[in-house]
Formats: sequence, structure tokens, C-alpha cells
Amino acid sequence: MDGNGRWAKKRLMPRSYGHRKGVDSTRLAVEFFARAGIKHLTLFAFSSENWNRPAEEVSSLMELLVQSLRQYTAELHEKRIRIRFIGDRSSFSADLQQQIQHTENETGANRNMVLNIAANYGGRWDILNASRRLAQQVQAGAIDPADIDDRLFADGLSLGDCPDPDLFIRTGGEQRVSNFLLWQLAYTEFYFCETLWPDFAEPDMTAALAEYSKRQRRYGKTASQIEIPGQC
Ligand code: IPE
Ligand code: MG
Repeated sequence: MDGNGRWAKKRLMPRSYGHRKGVDSTRLAVEFFARAGIKHLTLFAFSSENWNRPAEEVSSLMELLVQSLRQYTAELHEKRIRIRFIGDRSSFSADLQQQIQHTENETGANRNMVLNIAANYGGRWDILNASRRLAQQVQAGAIDPADIDDRLFADGLSLGDCPDPDLFIRTGGEQRVSNFLLWQLAYTEFYFCETLWPDFAEPDMTAALAEYSKRQRRYGKTASQIEIPGQC
């Protein structure tokens, strides 16, 4: 969800104004993708590197997270959306941690869609955590290093119980991953668009899904292995 700051700057407004507008886009996107039948949606709300932003921006983002959860938990619960946070929440204020816990508990049994919110998340952090856990299991004699395969490794990651993402969308024109789900994106289709996140609306979401439907996913195979004879 990139481009909030530039969106605000274009309007001669503080960056925090862009972040507030970004929450409205987020709400629309969650609603749209839930309606479209997407079962897992992961939003990158705050990266482990975002702490390096000016202190007042960091605190406005933290405040916005608490407020948004307070404001929208009931609505998301009504839509049967399960909300989960991934990332290191221990650096958040007690207030935010409590709110996260409350939102996760409240929506934990919902099955319409899983909404993962990545906050203080980094793909490398995730991989390091999984590695550490496996190393501890090896040290304890619970597993043999030879047993470590894709599945076992992925089980230790934050989204171990979710399928790998089919589609990655980045708004705001930058074409990079910025330490998002590094392991899980191995075969994900990438979609970059120029639209700044506060302007990201239904036409962009429809365009992203339409583009995805044109992609051929080969997972290392050749096109003729994938194509079903007699079909285009
Ligand atoms: C939102 O956009 C990303 C968040 C950390 C919430 P940015 O704040 O990165 O906006 P730009 O890239 O400066 O425009
Ligand atoms: Mg940015």
C-alpha cells in the first residue's frame, strides 16, 4: 500500500493526511477482495524499516492503526473476516498490542476471508525466526537436519498455514518487494501500478485481477506442459 505520502504532498498536506486517506482505500480494498471471493489477503501496513521515518510520522501511523482497529473491527467481524497480525508486535505500545489481541480474538472464528495485516513485519525477520526455531528443534534432537524441506520450513513462517500468494500488488509506481513476504513470493505473479494508494479504487482492483487472469503460471514447466489440449 504505497504512495500515501506523495498523495498528500501533491495536495500540500502533511504525510499523515495521506495515511488517513489510505485507510479509506484499505477499507474499500478489503471489501472488494472479500466480495471477489479472495480467501487470503495480506496487507503491508508497516515494515520493520518504517521505524526509521521521522518520529512524528511513526507515531501518527501507530495512532492510526489503533484508531482503525477500534473503528472497523465490528464491521469486519460482521463480514465474517478474520483479522490476524504478522510481524513483531512486541515493539508496539501496550495499547496497540491490546487492541490487536482484542481484534484477533473477536474475529478469530470467521471464515469468509483471512485478512493478514503485516505490521513491524520484514520478510528476512520471518525467515530468520523460522530458521531459529528449526535450529532449536535440531538442537533438542526433535528433528534431523535432513528432514528440513520446503513444507517444514514454511510451517515456521508467519503465514505457515496460508497458501502462497497468487498475486502481489504494489501501488505507487515503485517496482520492488521492500522486504515483504520473501519466501512466500517465490512463484507469485507481480502487478505494479502507478496509482497512489489513497486513489486505489475499484477500477484498479478490477484491472489487477483481470491482468492476473491473463497470466500463465508455469512453476518452472514449459507452456506446452501447462496448456490443456483443445483449450486456449
Ligand atoms: C504508505 O505510503 C506506506 C506506509 C508505510 C503506510 P508511503 O508513506 O510510503 O508514501 P510515499 O511512498 O512516501 O508516497
Ligand atoms: Mg513509500
